[in-house]
Amino acid sequence: MAIPFFSKLRDKKTHLKLINKELQKVRDEIAAQTEAFEPYVREYMRRICRGQGKMLRPGLVLLTAAATGGIKKEHVTFAALLEMIHMASLIHDDVLDKADVRRDQPTPNALWGNELAVLLGDSLLAQAIVMGAEIGGSKFCRKMAVAMRDLCQGEVEQSSRLWDADMSRADYYELIRKKTATLFAVAMSGAAYLQGMDEEITEQLNRMGTLLGIAYQIYDDCLDLTGTDENAGKTLGTDAEKGKLTLPVFFLMESSCEDVADDVRNRVARHEEIDYTSLRGTEAFREAIQRSVDEALSRNEEAREVLWLLPDTKARKAMAEMTYRLDDLLRDCCTDL
Ligand code: IPE
Ligand code: IPE
Ligand code: MG
Ligand code: MG
Repeated sequence: MAIPFFSKLRDKKTHLKLINKELQKVRDEIAAQTEAFEPYVREYMRRICRGQGKMLRPGLVLLTAAATGGIKKEHVTFAALLEMIHMASLIHDDVLDKADVRRDQPTPNALWGNELAVLLGDSLLAQAIVMGAEIGGSKFCRKMAVAMRDLCQGEVEQSSRLWDADMSRADYYELIRKKTATLFAVAMSGAAYLQGMDEEITEQLNRMGTLLGIAYQIYDDCLDLTGTDENAGKTLGTDAEKGKLTLPVFFLMESSCEDVADDVRNRVARHEEIDYTSLRGTEAFREAIQRSVDEALSRNEEAREVLWLLPDTKARKAMAEMTYRLDDLLRDCCTDL
């Protein structure tokens, strides 16, 4: 079972509960939007919506809105459309990664093949643009489109740079900023924009979203090597199969254990899958995951600093709590290594 993020929180005193009612409204909005498709498409969309994600991007929209004056109807629509863009990107990503399971459900490509999966992802993206035009002006729609474009550009770059031994760690950070952090950033800055906040704070919230998004993709890249399909609710291990050079791979190539560093570098040069079965349990592997996790934790820490710009409210506390929960997920990657 995939780990829930906002729902089923064990800590009864958590401030994150603040947005539970609105998160349900976002789920209802997504369901309503999928019902609005033509019957041919609707059945597929119903099936796609059966799986539940962590709702991180809608969560960021709602928390930012709550912390900057209150959640408006537009924020709920914005949160729903961002989740739809995210869902579309996952459908397309699962085609690229040949992944069979997502959110504890079979993926569209596994159920209906790549062609239909691509078209269904496109349909979701198009509907998201329709929704954007209904809540914001052209400046707002442009913001959304730029985020979508950057996400796609990140995925294109990733697909073009599999096994690319010339790729640097800086390239990796820039790539994950585009493919993952842009949606986190636009969730926060878009919510502030709809609230009418000034440009300076909107820009700072954009920066906070970028930092959280980069940290989150580092977490996901560690999870691909340390997690189980069952707990993650999705197909893991595809990064190694495809030759994606993620942060732990860079740290393995730089490992002080020279045998490991040489082996990993040679395999990358030969486009040969890294042998994680033998690496797991070694000091070099533990160190690579720990260093990656530390990089992500420091970005979450930097992201939290932005919160000082907001008034001290329960919503701000909830935002801080969310970042601490992301820290916990990261630390979980280091247990039982
Ligand atoms: C998965 O995102 C893809 C990445 C950007 C790492 P999530 O982990 O937020 O996926 P869901 O929404 O919970 O399924
Ligand atoms: C994130 O990368 C995908 C997108 C930003 C669309 P991954 O390929 O690592 O995501 P998962 O692991 O399949 O969820
Ligand atoms: Mg993938
Ligand atoms: Mg992944």
